[in-house]
Amino acid sequence: MSNVRERWSSELGLVAGAIGSAVGLGNIWLFPMLVGQNGGAAFLIPYFIFTFSFVWTGLVIEFNTGRIAQQGPAGAYEELGMPFGKYIGLIPGFRPLVVLIFYASIAGWTLRYIGAPANEQFWAEPGAFFGTVNSGLQSAVFAVLALAIIGSIVYFGIEKGIEPATKLMIGLLFILLVLLGIRSVLLPGSLEGLRFYLVPDFSKLTTRVVLNAMAQAFFTASLAGAPMIVYGSYLSEKADTVSAAITTTFGNATIALLSGFAIFPAALAVGVEPNASGPGLLFISLPAIAQQLPGSTLIVTGFFLAAALAAISTGLSILEVPVDSLKYHFGLPRKVVTPILVLIVAVVAIPTAMSSELFDTLTTIVLYTGPLAALLAPLGLFWAYDGRQALEQINEGPGTELGDWFFYWGKYIYPAGILAAYAWDVLG
Ligand code: ALA
Repeated sequence: MSNVRERWSSELGLVAGAIGSAVGLGNIWLFPMLVGQNGGAAFLIPYFIFTFSFVWTGLVIEFNTGRIAQQGPAGAYEELGMPFGKYIGLIPGFRPLVVLIFYASIAGWTLRYIGAPANEQFWAEPGAFFGTVNSGLQSAVFAVLALAIIGSIVYFGIEKGIEPATKLMIGLLFILLVLLGIRSVLLPGSLEGLRFYLVPDFSKLTTRVVLNAMAQAFFTASLAGAPMIVYGSYLSEKADTVSAAITTTFGNATIALLSGFAIFPAALAVGVEPNASGPGLLFISLPAIAQQLPGSTLIVTGFFLAAALAAISTGLSILEVPVDSLKYHFGLPRKVVTPILVLIVAVVAIPTAMSSELFDTLTTIVLYTGPLAALLAPLGLFWAYDGRQALEQINEGPGTELGDWFFYWGKYIYPAGILAAYAWDVLG
């Protein structure tokens, strides 16, 4: 199938888009929460092992699945010659709609929390305040607001919407997190938090911690056979996808680390336990942490502004996938399919945002199915297409060349490694 695809204005556009997609609530909300729940620094060991082996290589595979096929996930597998590719593509082509339902809820909470310091209950009873934000009508209204913002940027396309918006948001987010991290580390009593965050207790390393670390490493890099494929499909033939993948991986890991520096030293300095379950660490602990510090309103507003920016820039890449899928299947223009999709997601997001049980189930499903969804790209590129040919095309870019090892990595080790982590957890 031939169609004229949109393009990034330059390769930097892809890098900004990919970092914008990767850096999201996974870094600011889930990462500190999972570090807290999975034994502190011990979690970082498998997390970084996955990041620097599977994540950057997975990004090379996903960018190139899109770039070589010149299609998003809906059309890529058919284009790469996978049997039943057109039908298989429906899964990654529309799975992001489910992710967006869950994502819109948390993005909505972060939007609501930007103005939270003005509310007395936020300071006096942070848990009760969170209860009013994460359920009921308020949660639904803000989820729809988040969707509307995401939809109105996606509506303008890659070069005029997603690319400039992401560049701006990521820059702002980085500055805010660095300031917050410095503030937190310089607090008296921050050492305990730094120890929790940086000195591993190896006895905490269980098979479940390893699987959680893999799920998180994939989720936070948006490696789920969808956003990074559609973003790769807006690249031309000569793009340096290897450098783009490495830069995205480093950028994303840096922001996650910064979030941890912003949270843990401050949390322990003021006596807040970092292993709070559920979404508590960010939404309930932050007011408790901030109110003991000078400039508390600014800290809270800054933090949630950062979280909202991250959530929205990720939301763009999630919505872009079904937008591209509908364009592919029905030949409809972006300006028609975007509002339709926002409406459909909003209808399902409203009851989900109002019920915390539905929301928790959705979070678990989204997190643990991500690496499985990421299996499709290597199957498409190295099995259905031609692995050797794929490697040659990857190396057509002007930058770093990958050796023959990448053929074996993409064809066997990467998919087998993903499956092994699940099997190890089930058997362990
Ligand atoms: N990569 C996105 C995040 O971390 C999904 O939130």
